[in-house]
Amino acid sequence: MGKALIVGCGGVAGVAIHKCCQNSEVFEEICIASRTKSKCDALKAQLEGGKTKVTTAQVDADNVEEMVALIEAFKPDVVLNLALPYQDLTIMEACLATGVHYVDTANYEPPDTAKFEYKWQWAYRERFEKAGITALLGSGFDPGVTGVFTAYALKHHFDEIHYIDILDCNGGDHGYPFATNFNPEINIREVTSKGRYWEEGRWVETQPMEIKREYDFEAVGQKDMYLLYHEELESLVQNVPGLKRIRFFMTFGQSYLTHLKCLENVGMTSIEPIEFEGKQIIPLQFLKAVLPDPASLGPRTKGKTNIGCIFQGVKDGKPKTYYLYNICDHEECYKEVGSQAISYTTGVPAMIGAMLVMQGLWQKPGVYNVEEFDPDPFMEALNKWGLPWQESFAPELVD
Ligand SMILES: NC(=O)c1ccc[n+]([C@@H]2O[C@H](COP(=O)([O-])OP(=O)(O)OC[C@H]3O[C@@H](n4cnc5c(N)ncnc54)[C@H](OP(=O)(O)O)[C@@H]3O)[C@@H](O)[C@H]2O)c1
Repeated sequence: MGKALIVGCGGVAGVAIHKCCQNSEVFEEICIASRTKSKCDALKAQLEGGKTKVTTAQVDADNVEEMVALIEAFKPDVVLNLALPYQDLTIMEACLATGVHYVDTANYEPPDTAKFEYKWQWAYRERFEKAGITALLGSGFDPGVTGVFTAYALKHHFDEIHYIDILDCNGGDHGYPFATNFNPEINIREVTSKGRYWEEGRWVETQPMEIKREYDFEAVGQKDMYLLYHEELESLVQNVPGLKRIRFFMTFGQSYLTHLKCLENVGMTSIEPIEFEGKQIIPLQFLKAVLPDPASLGPRTKGKTNIGCIFQGVKDGKPKTYYLYNICDHEECYKEVGSQAISYTTGVPAMIGAMLVMQGLWQKPGVYNVEEFDPDPFMEALNKWGLPWQESFAPELVD
């Protein structure tokens, strides 16, 4: 069917690339391009012998000209951005310059401010419309599948959704006292920020980890979870008519929180540059360098993730509650693609988003979030490509 250029070769990209190669009817040819080419070559070597033709390239995705030259040389149908959120805008610029569709999994965030927002990428709407190309934003799990779940619930189960609680539970244990499951810098910036949820037309801000609840997750058990601000809240508030409240909760173990507090207290999570032995360094980037690489957690992680959305609203004039979720097993993921479930649950929807754009099923000139497309082909693909979903009509609710 076509060609995809995949930018980045970390934990998430590794899974998405394995999945593209399993789906060779759609992904006839892929180019893996990243800052460190040796990682791309090592992955290519693992994938040798399959039907998908794999090439590799070195690219600095912060540099628009380099990206344009690579796109012009490879001529992909879609660019799948699995580098870091800092590269979103330069890659979007390169897609505009070359007329190629764009897909990512995380919204732009400026390197010097820990503040992610869609405004920078939504500002490209008119330019993508005029260029006749699609930008699909946030095609991971959360954001990503959580938005697709919402669109599916709205299409098939509700006339109006009033309350959404997104619950992200990682019941996995990697055996380290402290490690993050995806890029440590991005992860720590997210969890040390203030919490925020949306209720009755306005945002309510909380201190980091101020709101705690307990929840009994299927296949995982009872866990503490904390209210965080998460990027899909921003787009779902705009795209779900009649919504009264939306919140996001993530589980954290006590050891993770204690380590994080200590690192914060000593200044290791700061993004303010400091002088060290005559050199400017950013403490959080130094911390990233000493923490385990998330890609190395795969062989050590046991247990399951359970991520989903609880919806409350009305159907045919009657109140209704509906829970859609996916359970994913760290060890099964490792057996299949050599990585843990956090990368797996992001990499699979990234491949699916790129596939639907390439197939034309999710093409619409402009810049869109996942919930703005028909959820049905995505939901079908989740079942087919390793993230089957489950539903419940009488779930435990979060107070
Ligand atoms: N939506 C979701 O559910 C979800 C969940 C988890 C993660 N994510 C997102 O997924 C993305 C990837 O996460 P990850 O855990 O795979 O991160 P990662 O393991 O750190 O991988 C990032 C990759 O991007 C490459 N890269 C960084 N800067 C680059 C540049 N200027 N030019 C070219 N390549 C560059 C890195 O190259 P080097 O190898 O040289 O460092 C690395 O290969 C992030 O944006 C993250 O926020 C989304």
